Amino acid sequence: MNAKQAAGYRAAELVKEGMTVGLGTGSTAYYAIEKIGEMVASGLSIRAIATSKASEELAAKYNIPLVPAADVDRLDIAIDGADEVDPDMALIKGGGGALLREKLVAVQSDRFVVIADSGKRVERLGQFKLPIEIVPFCYEWTLRLLRSRYKVDIEMRMDGDKLYVTDNGNYIADAAFGRIESPGRLSDELKATTGVVEHGLFVGIADTVIIGYEDGRTEIIE
Ligand code: A5P
Repeated sequence: MNAKQAAGYRAAELVKEGMTVGLGTGSTAYYAIEKIGEMVASGLSIRAIATSKASEELAAKYNIPLVPAADVDRLDIAIDGADEVDPDMALIKGGGGALLREKLVAVQSDRFVVIADSGKRVERLGQFKLPIEIVPFCYEWTLRLLRSRYKVDIEMRMDGDKLYVTDNGNYIADAAFGRIESPGRLSDELKATTGVVEHGLFVGIADTVIIGYEDGRTEIIE
C-alpha cells in the first residue's frame, strides 16, 4: 500500500450507510473512490456527486450511484485530495484543474475530508503554483491585471499547444507565489477580481485532514 492509497482507503471508512458523498478528483481521491466502490459492491447504499468528468466516469465504473445536484440539499461528507496543506488546514488545490467543482462540493458538505500523502504538508502555502480559473472572454486582460497586481510569474495552463480548458469551459492561470503570507486575504482578493471564476485556495473549509505515509500508516488531523 502506498501513501495515497493509505489516505484514500482510511477516508472511505468514514462513509456510512445512507450518506450523500462528494467524490474528489486526482490520484489520491482515486483510491477513496475505488474503496467506496468496493463497499458499494458489498452492499453499502449511498449516493454521490463527483467533482469532475473523470471522477464521474470512475464512479460509474464502480457502480456508485450519482445524483443530480437538484436532488441534494447538503452532502454528509466530501473526500478530496490537495496539492498543499498548511498547519491551519488551509489548502492549495486544482493541480488537476477541478478546483471550481471541488470547492462547490466542499462548501456544501457537513464534513470535508482532505486526503494527502505526507509530501503535501507544508509550513506555508505557495511553492505549488496556485491555479486560478478565469473566463475565456478577454482572458488576456485578466492575466495582465493579475500579473501587474502580484508581480509574480503567472502562466496560462496549456494542454499541448492549446490552452487548457476546464470541465466548466474556462481557462486556468497558474501563479507562482512562492510564499503566500496571508492565504485568507489573497483568497478574498482573487474572489473579488472580475474575470476570476474561482481559485485553488481553500481556507477554513477543511474539517479533517488524513495524511498517508509510505509504510501504510495514516495520521488524522481534525
Ligand atoms: C484536482 O483539481 C486537485 O485539486 C487534486 O485534488 C489535487 O491536485 C491533488 O491531486 P493528487 O491527489 O493527484 O495529488
